[in-house]
Amino acid sequence: MRLAVFISGGGTNLQALLDGERDGKFQSKIVLAVSDRKDAYGLVRAEKRGVPVFVSRDQREIVKALEAREVEGICLAGYLSILGPELLTRYKGRILNIHPSLLPKYGGMGMYGIHVHEAVFAQGEKESGATVHLVTEVVDGGEIILQKKIDISDCDSPEEIQKKVLTVEHEIYPEAVKRWEENHETRLN
Ligand code: GRF
Repeated sequence: MRLAVFISGGGTNLQALLDGERDGKFQSKIVLAVSDRKDAYGLVRAEKRGVPVFVSRDQREIVKALEAREVEGICLAGYLSILGPELLTRYKGRILNIHPSLLPKYGGMGMYGIHVHEAVFAQGEKESGATVHLVTEVVDGGEIILQKKIDISDCDSPEEIQKKVLTVEHEIYPEAVKRWEENHETRLN
């Protein structure tokens, strides 16, 4: 599949996907990086790999850019804007997101970035992890594609949890794309 990756920040998950494509972990091709912030470092990562970038917060403009690159699937990777109805309907069933917790726990509105790990830490959880799921109009509510747990009983701060969970994210996103494209291809055939 032709994929677009949506970012808002550092883009370490985008990097994991770019490296996964390079290393043949999945067949899909990343043909566009979209960001709602022009200073997102993830844009530099994309350009270094020769992937075109597009910066906008206008849903209609974004849809036009996706169509121009004949994008078939979207991977949200640290993307902080909520997708509008146009994108959700246009790409229904073909949008993935990675969330830094064991959904459905610690998901939903306001649960993003360090806030997730602060809540996990405050609760005294002994394990956390990351989840790749299909995106629907319910924030963090779609079908789970892949989830992996990690022991955090030795973490003394939300930041330590975040660091550990990020390594799990980088591990599972390429694997999730592989499972998704295999499943998607079979559905198409
Ligand atoms: C990470 O916490 C990730 O879990 C979430 O967005 C944050 C930044 O990710 N999806 P990245 O380094 O920009 O990929």
